[in-house]
Amino acid sequence: MKIEPFALERFFAGYEFSAQHVLCASDCETLSVGELLAMEPGADEAFAALRLGYTETAGGPELRREIAALYEGIAADDILVFAGAQEAIFVFMNAVLNAGDHVIVHSPCYQSLASVAAAAGCRVTRWDALAESGWTPDPGRLEREITPATRALVVNFPHNPTGHLPEKEAFTAIADLARRNGFLLFSDEVYRLLEYEEGDRLPAACEIYENGVSLGVMSKAFGLAGLRLGWVACRNHDVLRALAWFKDYTTICTAAPSEFLAALALRRRDVILERNLDIIRGNLEALSGFFSRHEGFFSWQRPRAGPVAFPALSFAATSDDFCAGLLRERGVLLAPGRLFGAAPKHFRIGFGRRDFKTGMERLSRYVEQRLWG
Ligand SMILES: Cc1ncc(COP(=O)(O)O)c(C=O)c1O
Repeated sequence: MKIEPFALERFFAGYEFSAQHVLCASDCETLSVGELLAMEPGADEAFAALRLGYTETAGGPELRREIAALYEGIAADDILVFAGAQEAIFVFMNAVLNAGDHVIVHSPCYQSLASVAAAAGCRVTRWDALAESGWTPDPGRLEREITPATRALVVNFPHNPTGHLPEKEAFTAIADLARRNGFLLFSDEVYRLLEYEEGDRLPAACEIYENGVSLGVMSKAFGLAGLRLGWVACRNHDVLRALAWFKDYTTICTAAPSEFLAALALRRRDVILERNLDIIRGNLEALSGFFSRHEGFFSWQRPRAGPVAFPALSFAATSDDFCAGLLRERGVLLAPGRLFGAAPKHFRIGFGRRDFKTGMERLSRYVEQRLWG
């Protein structure tokens, strides 16, 4: 298989660990192993005693029970664990889709959602969301793109990079459309549980559609990307079986320490999610203040969920040039929109981490000096 380079990951490989302030991360504040173990009495002894043999291919039963508890009407047997969401995307596109299948992908997007399907020989059509429409993708346009060869629709809500979260009725209508037309709904829900108002949370695709494939991960809402632990939740066991058989050739099973720590974090999910939502809410206020102070220079849509937003420059520069200048002069990393296949004026900003305000102060000084000075 030949696949194009992953623009965002190559960008991060170049700058993530050398920039002074990463202001475009899409995850939440992380925890140390010690902090996590301290959340449960006896967890440190149990972790020290953990045997480091192979784990079950599907994921340990206890871990899968904890994951299933995140959903309504989903059992441990409906869960398959992967080494991050990224492995699940790779395996789904290769194991379930066939060369020649038509796949519609909500865009702009995290690149693998489109590139892996294309590399697997699928014909990929982009279902573009536009800033002018508040990043709401047009349902009429989606209906027009469907053909008899359409095998899957790929969506991502809450959305990276825009932070868009549709109304529940709009999401249910997408699932109904998938059912009526007989295609799979691959729903990247890695930012789920980060809705600022709990009542805004969408049902998971696997809950409302028997051929809905919900993608989840420990990286984003829980801030535990280093565990490399994700999953698929799906009631169609033919799909799960195809994924499991392909996974035998990728990772076989996930790492035992990651499974242990992920299960612990899921048991303590209320504490971790509340902490991360508090950080997000505080940072979002600072971000709103920044955009009010510099109204003529930026436009943005305030997200309703997640730790990322996708503002645009209103002055004569590309986001590539703006981000490069900011990194060079202030050591602050923002991600230009090109990395998401999007318009050249946009950039992604991430506000899920504690050091956000320090990065924002540097960004503010840069903007004041460059644009007002
Ligand atoms: C929408 C989306 N899906 C999947 C992933 C991959 O997640 P992970 O790195 O945890 O495998 C990301 C990571 O940024 C993402 O933003």
